[in-house]
Amino acid sequence: MENFIKYIDKEPFLSVAKVGKKTGIQGYVIGGFVRDLLLQRPSKDVDFVVLGSGIDFAHAMADFLGKDTAARYFKNFGTAMIRFNSWELEFVGARKESYRKSSRKPIVENGTLEDDRRRRDSTINAMSISLNEKDYGQLCDPFGGLKDLRAKLIRTPLDPDITFSDDPLRMMRAIRFATQLGFVIEKDTFAAIKRNKNRISIVSKERITDELNKIILANNPSRGFMSLEETGLLKQIFPMLTELMGVEVVDGKGHKDNFYHTLKVLDNVARVSDNLWLRWAAVLHDIAKPLTKRFEPKVGWTFHGHEFVGAKMVPGIFKKLKLPSNEKMRYVQKLVLLHLRPIVLAQEIVTDSAVRRLLFDAGEDIDDLMILSTADITSKNEAKVKRYRKNFELVRQKLKEVERKDRIRNWQPPVTGEIIMETFGLKPSRKVGNIKTVIREAILDGKIHNEFAEAFDYMLKTGKSMGLKVVSRKYFLYK
Ligand code: CTP
Repeated sequence: MENFIKYIDKEPFLSVAKVGKKTGIQGYVIGGFVRDLLLQRPSKDVDFVVLGSGIDFAHAMADFLGKDTAARYFKNFGTAMIRFNSWELEFVGARKESYRKSSRKPIVENGTLEDDRRRRDSTINAMSISLNEKDYGQLCDPFGGLKDLRAKLIRTPLDPDITFSDDPLRMMRAIRFATQLGFVIEKDTFAAIKRNKNRISIVSKERITDELNKIILANNPSRGFMSLEETGLLKQIFPMLTELMGVEVVDGKGHKDNFYHTLKVLDNVARVSDNLWLRWAAVLHDIAKPLTKRFEPKVGWTFHGHEFVGAKMVPGIFKKLKLPSNEKMRYVQKLVLLHLRPIVLAQEIVTDSAVRRLLFDAGEDIDDLMILSTADITSKNEAKVKRYRKNFELVRQKLKEVERKDRIRNWQPPVTGEIIMETFGLKPSRKVGNIKTVIREAILDGKIHNEFAEAFDYMLKTGKSMGLKVVSRKYFLYK
């Protein structure tokens, strides 16, 4: 058996070993940290399992490390967390743990190291390294995790039906690890996910979405979604996405399969951005296509308005999946709503005013919108893709030029409501809003520049045409 001392011949492991010796409680590094060590993916989160009370051990550890250490104890779970320099160290007593058929609350009992490893989700996560004097650095690998790591396989340590029924989230975890690491799920394990997919219903939405987010954040997220689909899990956790699947043919005309198209767009975005929410926008950009699909004999398949309907659907989807309902959701909503705009622009002669309007509507998110829109070009027709890409370059240049001239991106009205009210002696009213809109439209259409003097004159002209009288000349000074 290989010895892995070289990986742990340093802090914080040396301290854990010393505390182990002092207290007589044996300790091991276990789980994801060992896996990542062997994969050379350095991490600062370490799980330790001890043969005794994890809480007692953590108390002794905190004393040993001194007063600068922050420790938190979770008595109900029998775990403790210590922050030490930039490390996050979690201590738990070895245990047996199993889940009841209808509940996600585990029954936890003390167990041996062997029990503890048996209750883990995969062979590659069930390896431990000893921190004890007699065999310091020794890898303990009862289920062939190292072999699976080298063969790039995800496999459960026990019969997969048992492992998955103990905690059904592990089905998602298996797919997540396979996606993150570029591994394959072993045949029997994969078949067991298919068999047990319905059990995912007892897992909380938050935990499921956590895994989904990790899949979305992988380098090649489509692989995860394909496995989710193939196992039937996707239908359980996010049925709306599976509705994008399939091609309908009428009069010999088919449309593209919007599920695979969506995955392609997601991969395209993933190649250039790590922004989770931009990736979510890719997942959802065509979500309303099934709802808006029509066959028009003269034109073929259309999905008119899918961007508007899709944007409206975003809050409901976020709520269902327990994703945040804050500015992240609004960002995704905005990108779904606008995702066709750059493409439409690229098809037409790109006018300054169209570009100004796009900048106004997208604001700060214009660069992300351009990424999404570029990723959305997935046609198999090379010539078409080339043409689009070229036009996109034009749109990009135009965006830069217009932005330099007119600074629309973070648009603030050059003439505020207060100025309008004071100049014409108005109270807050629709009239004030109307004048603001007229000025904004004039700027976006390029009739006037985005600056105070021109906007103020335009305001005076507009007021006059509405029969308003100037009652204060205070702001004339600023012209
Ligand atoms: N574990 C498990 N079943 C779960 C969750 C966790 O068996 N449903 C075990 C695995 O041995 C895992 C360890 O607990 O390695 C730690 O879990 P966690 O911190 O959630 O995951 P990591 O494997 O560390 O990976 P990541 O940090 O990427 O989530």
